[in-house]
Amino acid sequence: MKPNVSAADGPSAITPSLWWVGRSAWGGLPPLTPSFDGNIFLLKGDRYDVLIDAGGGPSIKDLQHNIRLAGSTPERIREIWITHCHCDHFLGAGPWAAKYPRTICCLSKVGLTLLRRKDYRLTGLYLGPGALKLPKKLQPLEDGSVLRCPPFELRVEATPGHVPDGLCFRGQVDGLELLVTGDTVIGDQHIPGTGLQKGMIGWICGSWMSNMRSYRQSLARLAATRPDLLLPGHGLPQAGPAARSSLKNALRRVERLMAFPDFLNLGPYYSFSAFAPK
Ligand SMILES: [Fe+2]
Repeated sequence: MKPNVSAADGPSAITPSLWWVGRSAWGGLPPLTPSFDGNIFLLKGDRYDVLIDAGGGPSIKDLQHNIRLAGSTPERIREIWITHCHCDHFLGAGPWAAKYPRTICCLSKVGLTLLRRKDYRLTGLYLGPGALKLPKKLQPLEDGSVLRCPPFELRVEATPGHVPDGLCFRGQVDGLELLVTGDTVIGDQHIPGTGLQKGMIGWICGSWMSNMRSYRQSLARLAATRPDLLLPGHGLPQAGPAARSSLKNALRRVERLMAFPDFLNLGPYYSFSAFAPK
């Protein structure tokens, strides 16, 4: 089947089971939810549904509305799968879990370890200790973890680089090999004023511990695969050859950046090993 990868004025079905229910105006797209949100997708299963990323909160009103327009209900959302802890993807999970406390928030073990130490660098915000109220039900993910939304099953691929807690999710949905990339690969996107940008990647910054060597490794692993549908954390989804070209172009972009030695020594936290889980 051919997925619908265009951005409508309201929530839209990318495939019958996969809906686009939240996004800001990033890339000049018509916004679906407040300006702080990355892409939020809804995966509709047989028994329950799942949100992929939660946006930045603090309001979940538009998101609730869009979920209903997509034929689901907030009460059907059993899990939220977080691609990484950056504020525009993760912070919405807090207000959501406060309203729907049975929701399980699944996120990187690396990210969760730092959050539990009240270290909020991976959110990208300068928050003081104790500033963040985490959802009560948290499930750590690592490379190889399996996420279930029957009949669908997605596998977690750890893809550090943009951030140390970056995750991708891969599996078959509606006959397509789906790859959710978060900000690891934003891919080929048309940006108003600048035209086609090939292989866009997540912002590189020492304060959230970006690491170019890890990034290259993660992208080389992704670029060797052939997903049918790529769902990025910002901008338009990409299907077929466009998905594959986005992965390859993201790898090229990182390799070009690595030609500048300063990028290899992002301070002051360039070495994540000091902060790895003990
Ligand atoms: Fe990010």
